[in-house]
Amino acid sequence: MTNEPGIAELPTAEACVRNQRPILDVLGKYAPDNAFILELGSGTGQHAAYMTANLPGIRWQPTELKERLDDIRQWRKHAAQKGFLDPLELNVEQDIWPARDADVVFSANVVHFVSWPEVEKMFRGISRVLKAGGLLLLYGPYNYDGQYTSQGNVDLDQWLRERNPDSGIKDFEQILLLARQFHLYLRADEEMPANNRTLVFQKAETGE
Ligand SMILES: C[S@@+](CC[C@H](N)C(=O)[O-])C[C@H]1O[C@@H](n2cnc3c(N)ncnc32)[C@H](O)[C@@H]1O
Repeated sequence: MTNEPGIAELPTAEACVRNQRPILDVLGKYAPDNAFILELGSGTGQHAAYMTANLPGIRWQPTELKERLDDIRQWRKHAAQKGFLDPLELNVEQDIWPARDADVVFSANVVHFVSWPEVEKMFRGISRVLKAGGLLLLYGPYNYDGQYTSQGNVDLDQWLRERNPDSGIKDFEQILLLARQFHLYLRADEEMPANNRTLVFQKAETGE
């Protein structure tokens, strides 16, 4: 007998189960085989478990707010993957981040979850920890030309703003302008299921 939780008892986000395969495909396309990948706002830790199981050469550093770290630790124990690193506490608003020299920074469904000032701080932090030439992959919904891309995204935005009026789906064009301030340039805008996108930015070889 063991007291270890089985997979059915682990904290689960349904969205993660739905989007993990398409995200794996995008990561497999862009990330180097032995990449050090820093994840922001890891949530349950399911992406860390799935990606390290399917991309065995990577090292995946999950991070989250303090109160969510235990969920990720449970997934780490269950997954038992060498590349699944112990989660670190990281609020994207912090000035000093606990990891650096990332080949790739990945974040799913965080940009719409937080306020614009938090997104600005997030980009500042990313630009500091990403290696020159490194990649930033941002998965989630975005508006284009000020328009929602689906009724599902209208509903999501309303739900987000009821929860926190400062949160909500961000404009693709605003994200591009912000990224450019930090020498991050759009390399691809990948279509994902359920009207989500993965924005792929590359950090310039020179600059901060
Ligand atoms: C919608 S969830 C997405 C979780 C996970 N990435 C996923 O795709 O399932 C948004 C996550 O952002 C985290 N978060 C919110 N504010 C944050 C902040 N200031 N810094 C870091 N993470 C934050 C929350 O704790 C939450 O887990």
